[in-house]
Parts: sequence; structure tokens; C-alpha cells
Amino acid sequence: MMLAIENLMNEHQLILKYIDLMERYTRHINPAVLFAKADSFIDFIHQFADDFHHAKEEDILFRYLEVPNVLTHCNPIPQMWHEHNKARAIVEDMENAVLNHQLTMLVVAIHQYAKLLQEHIYKEDNILYPMAERSLSDAAKTSLLNDFVETDMRLDSASIWQKYQTLYTELSDYLNEAV
Ligand SMILES: [Fe+2]
Ligand SMILES: [Fe+2]
Repeated sequence: MMLAIENLMNEHQLILKYIDLMERYTRHINPAVLFAKADSFIDFIHQFADDFHHAKEEDILFRYLEVPNVLTHCNPIPQMWHEHNKARAIVEDMENAVLNHQLTMLVVAIHQYAKLLQEHIYKEDNILYPMAERSLSDAAKTSLLNDFVETDMRLDSASIWQKYQTLYTELSDYLNEAV
């Protein structure tokens, strides 16, 4: 498997962990618990899922796949773009719900985000990424990996990972201790 794809799939695993945790928060009997940490979840989505992960997909992977004649049979990229934009719109709903202290609106937005991203990640892991492995030339794969390495360095991937793994533990502990 291409190293760049492995890298994206690892990021998916952390996004899925956060989604599960966020869903567990929505099931807590006391809504104050969810409101106390909603900003932290939104921060993760902005910084990790969107600016870090989606940006790498959009600015690098999609760009390589959009080169004419790379994808010969079907092109799932427009649908992937659409889902990224839909995810961004749902996060705006979450932010508005937090601002206006609207519990139902917040919970609905979280469920929508969870469902959208779980399905999106499934499609990428099982359809888009294998397609990239099959369709890209060896030269394109090498160049793509260089772009990934450059971006990971520029965005300081190591500290982003450390920050959000630490935050995950904090959020998980907070929920376990909440009564
Ligand atoms: Fe994506
Ligand atoms: Fe992705």
C-alpha cells in the first residue's frame, strides 16, 4: 500500500474514534456535559479533519486523480468534494447550535456529521484509495508522496497528532468521570 494512503487511513481511524466519542457524549443524561466539550470537538473537526486531513485529500490526492485520463471508468471525486462541503456545512450548524445553546439542534448535527463521515470514510478506504493505488503511475505516486511529506512537515503533523491524541484522552476521561 502507498505510504500516503496509509497515512490518510490512519487519520480516518482517529476521526472515527472522535465521532464515536462525540456520539457517546450525546447519550449522556446531562446536556451540560456535551455543551462543556462541544467546542473541543468542533476544534478537532476544524483543525484535524478539515484543515489537516481534508486539505491533504483535496490539495494533493484529488488533484493527482483529476489529471485527465488517470481515472478511466468512473470518477468519484466530485462526490467526495460534495461530501467534504456538506461536512463543512454541518459543522457550521454545530457552531450555531452551541452559540444559541440549542441542544436538539446540536445533537441532530452531530448525528448527521457522524453518519456522513462514517459513510464517506468507508467509501474512501474501500473505493477511492484502492482506485488511486491502481490508477496512478509510479512517477505520480512518488511525486504525490513527496507532496504529502512536504505538507506534513509544513503543517507539523507530529504535533497535530500529539495534540489531538492528548485531547482525545482528556475528552474520554471527562465523559467517564461525568455524573
Ligand atoms: Fe474525504
Ligand atoms: Fe478522508
